[in-house]
Amino acid sequence: MPVYSDKVMDHFMNPRNVGEIEDADGIGEEGNPVCGDMMTFYIKVNDSRLSDVKFKTFGCGAAIAVSSIVSEMARGKTLEEARKITPALVAEELQGLPKNKHHCSNLGAQALNKAIDDYLSKQGKPVKTRRREKRNG
Ligand code: FES
Repeated sequence: MPVYSDKVMDHFMNPRNVGEIEDADGIGEEGNPVCGDMMTFYIKVNDSRLSDVKFKTFGCGAAIAVSSIVSEMARGKTLEEARKITPALVAEELQGLPKNKHHCSNLGAQALNKAIDDYLSKQGKPVKTRRREKRNG
């Protein structure tokens, strides 16, 4: 049985920014075929900044906590800054994740990145997908 930090429990029990942005500027979806969990991120962009970030997650408690913290970390950031939100930073912000839950933090960072990619491609801008940081678990 994994032991979760207080912060994971808080974001799992009271997730921030849940929902969908109807007129989203970018949408990113990521899933894990092994556990079957799915995350979708919706972003609004103003002056190259993420003015709004929302998500819908069908997944484990850690996946919900990850989505919630990623949405908080990304809000107000520039696209470039948001790209730097790695799974390791997400796990750190949540005061750690059990080893077998590290893949949940991959999902959050990747879904956000896909939403940024989606926004850029809709703008006709080059999509430079950053090197994915993978964590096992
Ligand atoms: Fe797969 Fe958490 S168990 S995302």
